[in-house]
Amino acid sequence: MSLAILGCSIVENQRLVEKNVFVREGKIYEITPSSDISNKRDFDIIIDGRKKVLLPGVIDAHVHFRVPGGEHKEDWTTGSCAAASGGVTTVLDMPNTSPPTTTVDRLNEKRIIASNKSIIDFGFHFGAEFGNANEIEKARNIASIKIFMGSSTGNLLIDDDAELYSIFELAEKHDLLCTVHAENERLIKLFSDQAKFNGKTSPTIHPLIRNNLCAAEAVSKAELFSRFVGNRLHVCHVSTKEELDFIKLGKKLQREGRLSAEATMHHLLLSSAAMLKSGNYAKMNPPLRSKEDISALWSSLREGVIDIIASDHAPHTREEKDKPYWQAPAGVPGVETNLPLLLNEVNRKTLSFEDLINFTSKNPAKIYRIKNKGEMKRGYDADFALVDMDIEQILSSSNVKTKCGWTPFNGITVQGAVEKTIVRGKIVFDKGEFFLNKGKEVEFTRSTTSETE
Ligand code: DOR
Ligand code: ZN
Ligand code: ZN
Repeated sequence: MSLAILGCSIVENQRLVEKNVFVREGKIYEITPSSDISNKRDFDIIIDGRKKVLLPGVIDAHVHFRVPGGEHKEDWTTGSCAAASGGVTTVLDMPNTSPPTTTVDRLNEKRIIASNKSIIDFGFHFGAEFGNANEIEKARNIASIKIFMGSSTGNLLIDDDAELYSIFELAEKHDLLCTVHAENERLIKLFSDQAKFNGKTSPTIHPLIRNNLCAAEAVSKAELFSRFVGNRLHVCHVSTKEELDFIKLGKKLQREGRLSAEATMHHLLLSSAAMLKSGNYAKMNPPLRSKEDISALWSSLREGVIDIIASDHAPHTREEKDKPYWQAPAGVPGVETNLPLLLNEVNRKTLSFEDLINFTSKNPAKIYRIKNKGEMKRGYDADFALVDMDIEQILSSSNVKTKCGWTPFNGITVQGAVEKTIVRGKIVFDKGEFFLNKGKEVEFTRSTTSETE
């Protein structure tokens, strides 16, 4: 099956230029000036791309698709459709499922389910837990070793310095990336106990319990340990100005490419004040922060301190969120709203298309070493989001695709919408409709020098 997208705008050297993009056998075959359509008859499907922007498909490197154990919140069918509707062509799924993905057998079970259900491509993070070094060593083709330095949804936790150090050593030995949920478990416990003792029950206490110190201390430790050990480290969902200081320092002191960092749209757009209105629907770990933290995050995007934007799509049902603060789980959905919110920022001129592509496609592919994805180059996978920058839409809980059925961005108007999503040359989403496709596991390349297999 071949495909031609004619007259679409693509981003080249920080500018939009009109081009034709030709696809054969799932790969980008040729990109030609828009005037050159002499060979269009050779293609099975022709898409009129005029007045639209063709972006590389979004690689969302941080999603929780909840299988196994949390299928009532999300599964691979609903999760991958939600993703596709938001221009996402690849997701990297987190291991804090139930049971967690901490053994090779469980990883393989996940692989089977995702390949049967997902309409987009996927990869898996592998969980670190006490005593699973053997399993980590046996695991093949994983995105990262995910380390929860502070506890969150699920029971994964590494709150011991020696254990953290050993996992970093293991990662270094096998040239694996460590991704960290960086919050200090002991401090979280202290501030929770204090809040409970004082009879606090309002969700607005959440950012005070998991305060900036909890995040900053954990990031400083992870950065320092990784600098000593020499492993690659990726800091998930950076939310505070203090974490950014440590990441800046780390990037100065560490070899290029050793340290990278992620931000999420909820931390970039919503402040802790949202908890007053939304209660537990704005409860996530790490929590929403102050205006100063938000503005530091935006500056760090421009300064290259943050490398990628991911959703941290963490769906929970309304029933679960409606529980009292102490029982309600943390996490918000976001896989389908990420790109529309970013397109809106491009329209508002707070972000360039070039930056958007770097944060959502190029850098994730580079940091996770995903083969043949993340860029619009000949021979690369034909993964695209075709977007219309003029369409205005109101994000609404009533029409999200995620199984949990709500969004923390409910009521926000955005300009810019995904029209089509294409995975390896196959249209999987088109103007609200989904099309069957067999998603495939991505390949993570390993540097040959430290390959130990
Ligand atoms: O808020 C969060 N939700 N933070 C996490 O680290 C986990 C996630 C989830 O899986 O629900
Ligand atoms: Zn996390
Ligand atoms: Zn997460």
